[in-house]
Amino acid sequence: NAIPLLVFAGSTRAQSHNRRLAQVAADIARAAGAAVTHIELADFDLPLYNADLEARGTPAAAIRLKEIFHAHPAWVICSPEYNGSYTGLLKNTIDWVSSPVKGDPEWGDGLKPFAGKVVGLLSASPGGLGGLRSLSHLSPLLLNLQCWLTPRQFALARAGDAFDAEGRLAEPARAGVQGVVDQALWAARRFAG
Ligand code: FNR
Repeated sequence: NAIPLLVFAGSTRAQSHNRRLAQVAADIARAAGAAVTHIELADFDLPLYNADLEARGTPAAAIRLKEIFHAHPAWVICSPEYNGSYTGLLKNTIDWVSSPVKGDPEWGDGLKPFAGKVVGLLSASPGGLGGLRSLSHLSPLLLNLQCWLTPRQFALARAGDAFDAEGRLAEPARAGVQGVVDQALWAARRFAG
């Protein structure tokens, strides 16, 4: 039976390298037999997290994201690097999804969409480090939320030259993505929630 795998990028930019990378990861995972859900964070249009706003009722987009995150035992996140870290979009999304839905029996304080999930991390940047520093910040955040991280991560350097016109990624970069996807599916089969 196919492992449900969630794939998304921490950028909404039309020409985003990380959105391209997410497409490559999704294609690789489908070829490996996973049941892939590839979402675009732009489709959710989350407001900036504010506890007062949340107290008036968790926005429908945040509830939908919580449900999607919760339903997938494994995720692949493609993280851009802004100022040596991950993007505000990614942090805002994680903050909304990780916050407990108060007063709702189904989404009571005990339900944690992050705990026990297997997460594979990828990054892409036009620079020479490929956004690697974003992953070094994202990793402890996800561990703090009780995610399992795959030992392999992959940072795509010089991302502006890495994809062909059809969005394909040449070797050896493609194998770097494959390695992370394979580990996420392997681990999810064995121990994901
Ligand atoms: C960047 N960029 C960048 N790149 C990098 O490798 N290290 C960095 O610290 C930064 N810092 C940074 C800050 C801000 C505010 C912006 C807007 C950009 C460049 C960044 O990697 C580049 O714009 C990527 O193309 C962003 O990812 P997407 O949108 O292509 O997925």
